[in-house]
Amino acid sequence: MTSASPPAEPPRSVIEIAGVTKVYTMGTNKVFALRGVDLHVHAGEFIAIMGSSGSGKSTLMNILGCLDVPTDGRYVLDGVRVDGLDRNALADLRNQKLGFVFQGFNLLARTSAVENVELPLLYDRQHRWENPRALAAAALGKVGLGERLDHQPSELSGGQQQRVAIARALVTQPTLLLADEPTGNLDSHMTVEVMALFQELNEQGITILIVTHEPDVAKYAKRVVEVRDGRILRDHPVEDRHNAADDLRALGEDDPVVEVEQAPPAQVAQT
Ligand SMILES: Nc1ncnc2c1ncn2[C@@H]1O[C@H](COP(=O)(O)OP(=O)(O)OP(=O)(O)O)[C@@H](O)[C@H]1O
Ligand SMILES: [Mg+2]
Repeated sequence: MTSASPPAEPPRSVIEIAGVTKVYTMGTNKVFALRGVDLHVHAGEFIAIMGSSGSGKSTLMNILGCLDVPTDGRYVLDGVRVDGLDRNALADLRNQKLGFVFQGFNLLARTSAVENVELPLLYDRQHRWENPRALAAAALGKVGLGERLDHQPSELSGGQQQRVAIARALVTQPTLLLADEPTGNLDSHMTVEVMALFQELNEQGITILIVTHEPDVAKYAKRVVEVRDGRILRDHPVEDRHNAADDLRALGEDDPVVEVEQAPPAQVAQT
């Protein structure tokens, strides 16, 4: 007779927010951007946040990304209570746990890919990193740009620029990757390329939240959270999830540019 196996460990909670509101005061007007949002995200999830313009998606992402603070409500990020922290503590938390990807890439012009990716390591206030240049080069290798280290943004395609931005987000080995409309400036082929990279990274264990208007992008996520008028309207798993690497092949990509390698071990300075 076999004994019952022990109960599986519940997945680690990465985001827990409850009753989060955000009110912007504009003179005598108040804009209720978030009206009481509850959201739980576990390690390994891949979530698409959807909703019409003005529904509160970016406001929510900015709060989750510790770039802005809620007016009210509770936020626990990877076991750390966030609401109530001061600016410096928020900056440290962002640097330690989060990676950001934006619609407009936000790369420094006239600065090489490897220098762009190195920046978050150089700005780490705790000086945790040894050999930032090598870590930046490895992160670029991970997004398939190992041969483009010295290219400036103007010497790269839009999809490649976004992959540099993803490498920059990954180089600090974040728990959570947040991306607000990461494919908004990309054509459909580059969009699938970037989504294939996100799917690979997610399979390697990174938790990902993206904001998108496009159902064609959301179909690559595992779960969709729909926001309307500052509230979560629906929250459901993606049915019929697409595999972006398969879609790329169907588009005729015989030389896949996305080849994700395993991350090198972290080099944490012994201070
Ligand atoms: N800094 C701010 N000051 C005042 N109001 C703001 C500010 N940021 C956002 N808002 C308002 O809050 C609401 C939600 O804005 P938010 O940017 O979160 O929308 P969104 O869902 O990201 O829209 P989009 O799809 O157009 O990017 C909107 O009504 C917006 O006008
Ligand atoms: Mg927005």
